[in-house]
Formats: sequence, C-alpha cells, structure tokens
Amino acid sequence: MKCRICSNPQGVSTSFGDMPIANGFLAEKDFQKEYFFKMETLFCDVCKTYQLIEQPDPEMMFHENYAFFSSTSKNMAVHFKEMADGYMQDFIPNKGNAFVVELGSNDGIMLKYFAQEGIKHLGIEPSSNVAEVARQHGVNTISEFFGAETAQAVEAEYGKADIISASNVMCHIPDLNSVGQGVDALLKETGIFVFEDPYLGSMISKTSYDQIYDEHVYIFSVLSVQNIFAPHGLELFHVEPQVTHGGSMRYYLCRKGTRAVRDSVKTQVQKEKDLGLDKVETYEKFTQSCEKSKKDFVTLLTKIKAEGKRVVGYAATSKSTTVLNYCNVGPDLIEYICDTTPLKQGKYSPGMHIPIKPYEDFKNDNPDYAVLFAWNHAEEIFAKEKGFLAQGGKWILFIPKVSVFETEDKLKNAI
Ligand code: TMP
Ligand code: ZN
Repeated sequence: MKCRICSNPQGVSTSFGDMPIANGFLAEKDFQKEYFFKMETLFCDVCKTYQLIEQPDPEMMFHENYAFFSSTSKNMAVHFKEMADGYMQDFIPNKGNAFVVELGSNDGIMLKYFAQEGIKHLGIEPSSNVAEVARQHGVNTISEFFGAETAQAVEAEYGKADIISASNVMCHIPDLNSVGQGVDALLKETGIFVFEDPYLGSMISKTSYDQIYDEHVYIFSVLSVQNIFAPHGLELFHVEPQVTHGGSMRYYLCRKGTRAVRDSVKTQVQKEKDLGLDKVETYEKFTQSCEKSKKDFVTLLTKIKAEGKRVVGYAATSKSTTVLNYCNVGPDLIEYICDTTPLKQGKYSPGMHIPIKPYEDFKNDNPDYAVLFAWNHAEEIFAKEKGFLAQGGKWILFIPKVSVFETEDKLKNAI
C-alpha cells in the first residue's frame, strides 16, 4: 500500500469490501462472469491525497458501452453552459485565436457552446460511444485517454491551448503525473488548466461515501491539488465550490507565477484545516461513520420489509453501486431501481442485481418508499415527482444520515 502521488506508505485505509464496476449494469446471462475488485481507500498523511488503493483497468470502465451521458441531466446542462460562458467572458478575450481543450468531454455538453461560436476546440474523450454523440452535435472530438503522449500529438496538430478544462475527469485518472506532463506540453504560457471534481470536504462532512467507486480514483481537496501539481510547475490560483455531484470544487491552475493567487485559495485551505482534512483522525472517524450508516440503512430497510411495505430505488447512479454493495442490499430489500437512461433499463444493478426499470414505471407504481440514490439531483427529481409524496410515498435518504422524509423541504434541508 503506497500513495499513488508521493509513494509514502503511511496513512489511513478504509475497506468497502468487494465491489463491481459502478456503471457495469448487466444482463442476467452475464451474472456469472461479473468482475469485482477490492475497494479500499487510502488517505496519504504526507501529500494529503485521498485515493483508491486498487482500481480496475480503465478499459473496464470507459469503453464503447459507457452508460453515462452528461446531457441526461437538465441541471448539468445549465451548469456547463455557465462554465462555457465563464470561460468566454473571463479567460479568452480574443476568441478568434483561442483554443479550448476539454478532457473527458463526454457528449459535448460543454464544448458545444464553443463549437456554436466557431471557436477552435477539441474534446478528448476515451469512451467512443459518447464521443460519437459529441461529433453528431458538431463538437470536434477524438477518442483517446489523456496523458503526456496524447498531449504532444494534439499540440503538434492543433497548437497550444488557452484553456484545458476537465469536469469529473481528473478524479478518474490514476496517472496524474502523466496528466501534469501533458498539461505542461499543451498549455500556452498564459493558459489555464481548470478542473472540477467531487470535493473531499463535502464527502467527509456528509458521510457521502457513495462518492467512492471504481471511477473515482481520487477525491480531491485544495490541499492535495496543490501538492499533486506543484512538481509540474502548476500553481493553484483560484477555487470555486460547486453544488454539482453533491458538492464539488473547481480548481484553477496556471503556470507558477503567471497569475496572482486569489484569496479564495487561502480561505478554502483554512476551511479544510478547520474540518481536519489534513489529519488522520478525521479519516478514522469517517470509517466509523460509514459503518454506522451501513448498519442504519440495513436496519431501516429490514424493518420496512417486515411491515409488509414496498421499497424501490430512484435513479441507478454509479454512487448507488457503492451503497448497495457495501451494505449488501439486493432485490429482497429494494424491488427495482427506476432510471431515465435507456442503456440501463432492462438490465440489473452491478453486484446486487436489482432490476432497472424505466422511470415511467415508478410514476404508475405507487411504492411505499423510494431510496433517493440521485440525492444530488433532488431538486430536478422533486419537480417531476410531486405525485409520489402526494399519494403517501416517502423518500429514504442515506446522507448525511439514514432518514425517512415525508416532505420535500425537510429532505432538501438535510442535503
Ligand atoms: P449521477 O449521480 O452519477 O449523475 O447519475 C445520474 C443517474 O441518475 C443517471 O443514470 C440518470 C439518473 N437520473 C434519473 O433517473 N432521473 C433523474 O431525474 C435524474 C436527474 C437522473
Ligand atoms: Zn501521498
């Protein structure tokens, strides 16, 4: 057990047991050959990076059948429009000469705004099915993993970039050293490297351990990001907390000394120290909180079942794979999970094999309880599922603690 960033062998590890691929929704015929890995995390006491110790091969996770399409969520569409607008206003005054690169550009949800403005852009997206959707939207996209080699090839063909952006991507890439080299090769002298990912501070304060799954090899903090990219001459000059994915952080980096470091960095570092993100005790306590959450979740579902009531899951998120497998909850306790993604419907959840149904089925079904797996999309979901509470249904939430809700407001406040 060694830190992936600094090779230090000391820290706190937490085990979540055998875990399948979070997005590995599968057909019954494939149950026997399902792949599992040992999901265990390490908090490195030296570079402060929170990470997965073992991770499946990237090819097992990001492939031609990758089931995650960014544009399926309306709120995410708004989020990425704002991100694109922000880049255009603040960082590329000279649009005509600008070159914007996005790593893990998914279905083009963010880059399409640059395509529409005729701004030179390139998406680098390893999953070929989502990359193809992006191309259909007019977004110039190549299907590659990003690293030093890809960066050099892109630089040779397109020149250097003003912005290298990555949303919910950096946390997927085990070899950040290669990314650092790639950014160094591809970024203009005055360019910026911006990325956002689920935030460690939110995960610790909400016990939202469901952020941990195969794809998230890192859960970053400001402290760790500073340490990870400093060896590549990159300096964190600004941070912006985001509400997406249940609490994310956007990190702005530049070549060291090329921009003034804003107060946001100092403020957030202090917040992290106040929260104990730099201390091993915090992660020991987090391990205990996860165990309590598991016990409470199983106890609640078992009690409801004993009462003869029905529970279903709402949204087959990748995060739900962690919760269901860690808590060992299967179709005996949760009948089915409804989801809007056609690729997931008709299949079974990874590991625990709960059937996935179209979300229209939920509307017509009137179950007694629904576990809100997509708690980070609560606002959007409540807007269309008012009928559920009206007919006496109750929501179950497992963050920040396992609870049952009969009103929207109480649930929203809890998140
Ligand atoms: P995420 O939490 O990783 O973004 O996963 C989102 C999943 O939730 C995706 O499979 C689509 C599903 N979903 C619904 O089923 N209904 C909804 O209203 C929303 C917003 C998402
Ligand atoms: Zn380390």
